[in-house]
Amino acid sequence: MSLRMIVLGSAAGGGFPQWNCRCPVCALAWDNDPRVKRRTQSSIAVETGRGAWTLFNASPDLRSQILATPKLQPTGLRETPIRSVVLTNGDVDHVDGLITLRERSPLTVYATSQISAVLDSNPIFGVLAKDVVGRQTVELDKPFRIDDATIEFFGVPGKVPLYLETENLKIGDTSGDTVGVDIRKDGRRLVYIPGCAVVNDGVLRRVDGADVLLFDGTVFEDDEMRKAGVGEKTGRRMGHVPLSGDGGSMTAFDGVKVGRKIYIHINNTNPILVAGSPERRTVEDHGWEVSEDGLEVTVGEAVRSVERQDRGSTAA
Ligand code: MLT
Ligand code: MN
Ligand code: ZN
Repeated sequence: MSLRMIVLGSAAGGGFPQWNCRCPVCALAWDNDPRVKRRTQSSIAVETGRGAWTLFNASPDLRSQILATPKLQPTGLRETPIRSVVLTNGDVDHVDGLITLRERSPLTVYATSQISAVLDSNPIFGVLAKDVVGRQTVELDKPFRIDDATIEFFGVPGKVPLYLETENLKIGDTSGDTVGVDIRKDGRRLVYIPGCAVVNDGVLRRVDGADVLLFDGTVFEDDEMRKAGVGEKTGRRMGHVPLSGDGGSMTAFDGVKVGRKIYIHINNTNPILVAGSPERRTVEDHGWEVSEDGLEVTVGEAVRSVERQDRGSTAA
């Protein structure tokens, strides 16, 4: 009886390293520096039922993520453990992988009405045959079931996808363009928030008491992309609260009870990607972990004791 999660992709949009980038952090990855690990784009998988897995976001790297993850591989003739996909926004790094899932396996896609409308307005998603791929429109703050898990969407400060931005762009809107997800199973709780523009009281309330928090680790400094010379946009302008500085996510959760705090959706400019960097040490000193692809987290009594044994035997 437990809640099991695998990080399929720990990087933000573009992945790490990014195909066209030799910023100082990407350069390390291109040069195979042992201090960094390559990462694919933002997604996790959760075992919502026995042998049934739900993807939370479908990344452009989904095919390679399945190749790297035995638990997600086919179990029979056109039979897959992947039964559901939950979307937290309509960004390219979170929806592009739906196209990878087009070969007529039964699936249900769960999304808010806004994100659902984004899919409907783009004919390429019609490749998911309607007779096998269902769509469930989900309201905020209304728990629903996927297999044996209870899932709840909540609005987090965010924005529409980059490709839908207009001059009337509102950053920090909580009406459902960007959501966090509360995932409960077997009395355990994981909260997944890969994009969040501000850590406000609503976000803190939602995270309180979770066994595991996976949170937006896009940029360390708000103006890191400008400093790296790769663009003018700040993290906040992209809908991503920075880790450091006033209102930064690293300290924002200090007063909240959470079992494990883990950064995910990490941009390739972010120096926390470099093991041993001052920024990496700073976040670790603040009690944060930095996720990498393939990280598995299992919360549940039986497995906890196994984990303790493992650690003991490694130390011995
Ligand atoms: C983001 O997280 O801000 C987006 O994934 C950016 C993008 O779509 O490239
Ligand atoms: Mn993204
Ligand atoms: Zn880069």
